[in-house]
Amino acid sequence: MKVSSKGNDVKDLQLATQGQDLIEWAAREMPVLSLISKRFSSSQPLKGLRVAACLHVTSETANLMLTLKAGGADLALCASNPLSTNDAVAAALAANHNIKTYAIRGEDNDTYYEHILAALDHRPQVTMDDGADLVSVLHKARREQLGDVIGGTEETTTGVIRLRAMAEHGVLAYPIVAVNEADTKHMFDNRYGTGQSTLDGIIRSTNVLLAGKTFVVAGYGWVGRGLASRAKGHGADVVVTEVDSVKALEAAMDGFRVMKMNDAAKEGDIFVTVTGDVNVLDREHFEVMKDGAILANSGHFNSEINLKALDDMAKSVRQVRPSVQEYKMADGRRLHVLGEGRLINLAGAEGHPAAVMDMSFANQALCAEYIAKNAKSLEKKVYDVPEEIDSEVARLKLHAMGIRIDTLTEEQKKYLSSWEEGT
Ligand SMILES: NC(=O)c1ccc[n+]([C@@H]2O[C@H](COP(=O)([O-])OP(=O)(O)OC[C@H]3O[C@@H](n4cnc5c(N)ncnc54)[C@H](O)[C@@H]3O)[C@@H](O)[C@H]2O)c1
Repeated sequence: MKVSSKGNDVKDLQLATQGQDLIEWAAREMPVLSLISKRFSSSQPLKGLRVAACLHVTSETANLMLTLKAGGADLALCASNPLSTNDAVAAALAANHNIKTYAIRGEDNDTYYEHILAALDHRPQVTMDDGADLVSVLHKARREQLGDVIGGTEETTTGVIRLRAMAEHGVLAYPIVAVNEADTKHMFDNRYGTGQSTLDGIIRSTNVLLAGKTFVVAGYGWVGRGLASRAKGHGADVVVTEVDSVKALEAAMDGFRVMKMNDAAKEGDIFVTVTGDVNVLDREHFEVMKDGAILANSGHFNSEINLKALDDMAKSVRQVRPSVQEYKMADGRRLHVLGEGRLINLAGAEGHPAAVMDMSFANQALCAEYIAKNAKSLEKKVYDVPEEIDSEVARLKLHAMGIRIDTLTEEQKKYLSSWEEGT
């Protein structure tokens, strides 16, 4: 890691102008964050608060950083994934906005963790995480700093699972608000954002036609639902695999073929894992996949495709397009892994469209304000986003979209809250 005199580690500060254009482009689709930013500028709810964020370093994240800065926060940012950084955006944040930024697209594992430690050198009072790596390093390697921290937020499903496990084992040292659990986050970001951007990543990486292909979606959670319906919209024959009987039933009633991965493996042309689980595509599946099969992951970690097993089984591996590795098997079949098995919507495309990140990051900004105000009364556990924040984000988004909705009349309020009235 080469930290500059200004305390940054980005690829090239000369990219700042290009990055600034990207940040401003995203801002056009982020009206909710912009409204919050205006309020923050005058009320300064985060004044002097040291915040370390470990998020995908994209143009949308940059707009969140600018909102927090407008609210008075003192910021450091590192990447939550080695392949998701936009180097131009990182340069603009460092050069134009004086935000300590430690992120380089394609950084190796050691640099990734050095960057997390550099963000922790900022001695955060609030952590903002996407996948819980920042919190995990803080609890393992920087225990002496835990006393500084008043609270944190977590962006994604996988991180929330890790943090809940920490809370259950009594090791979580400060309260966390699970931004992922807001309805205005997972119902929109995971479903519409990841649904669209995952397809975008697959198409940009391969330029394959989806129509007529057998498209296997592993996991029918929020992300899986969004992805499956979009793949169907492209004319693919969509197969779903699940381990949860209710979700599997829902997939079947939504019109998808549901089967075991062992069976799907023989049929699929394109496989996408979105489970948050490990080794969902494994040796037994690689053994039966068709020549030319495409394998991608859009779950948080690169653990869903067992790449080690695939590597052991392959006779040779070569890069055939920028984000495509071809694994040639002993029997001549070629299996193609996209984006090294990392989040394909970020590794192969630009992540979520700004319009959904507007809502996720509005939740982040309002939750940071909530922590600043309420930290003293919070316990060392994982909290859901307060309902008022969720409704406020939806209200602001509807307002920005020019959509007006009805309100309950007094008569209706009374009717809905009474048990006496019947037919
Ligand atoms: N790519 C992105 O930008 C992005 C955005 C949001 C979430 N995520 C990640 O996507 C993953 C899924 O998120 P979600 O919100 O849909 O979670 P979710 O909990 O709603 O859904 C996950 C589903 O996977 C199923 N599952 C678990 N193990 C399985 C297995 N072995 N085979 C088949 N199904 C299995 C679960 O039963 C569940 O229904 C998480 O890792 C999350 O962090 C990625």
